[in-house]
Amino acid sequence: MLGLKLATDPRWVNIVESNIEEILTDHAWCEQKAASNAIYIIVNNSEKHDLVAEMTNIAIEEMEHFKMVIDLIKERGLTLGRERKDDYVSDLAKFCRKDGSRNDALIERLLFAAMIEARSCERFRVLSQNIKDPELAKFYHDLMASEAGHYTTFLKFAKQYSERTDVDKRWKEWLEYEATVIAKYGKKETIHG
Ligand SMILES: [Fe+2]
Ligand SMILES: [Fe+2]
Repeated sequence: MLGLKLATDPRWVNIVESNIEEILTDHAWCEQKAASNAIYIIVNNSEKHDLVAEMTNIAIEEMEHFKMVIDLIKERGLTLGRERKDDYVSDLAKFCRKDGSRNDALIERLLFAAMIEARSCERFRVLSQNIKDPELAKFYHDLMASEAGHYTTFLKFAKQYSERTDVDKRWKEWLEYEATVIAKYGKKETIHG
């Protein structure tokens, strides 16, 4: 359903399990970045009421996820570290077309966001199916459904608002590019690492 070209090697979960504080810290900041992205879309597209309303819901949900992660960190006696850079997301950002109209920029932003949601959803699934800690397995299983919903919402708005981009064609290009990026990852205890 997500259309991803390359599956995550489940051995990545062994690396994650060696450093739960790091994966939870990185995860918390992924949720914050997802909320910030939704707010960015609101700020730049104020005239599109249904988009603004749905991005508001997403921003709130992502901060609820952030709260769930920081609560888990506290319950376990761990510490939320400083914000982590996300090299995978920086690599994806390079693929965004930057020379088009305002509408082109919106469509690219929505596809960029859908791509991150799709991979995050897949990573949460791999975690939920392979991590030995039953509390974390359930936690990631529950979050997976929410991120799948976000992926669908971003793609839906890209199709709804596109003025001249062939969204199906451009989405295929995004999926091809993402496969070349993710091939380099799977070696670190971060959500996209
Ligand atoms: Fe989230
Ligand atoms: Fe999300």
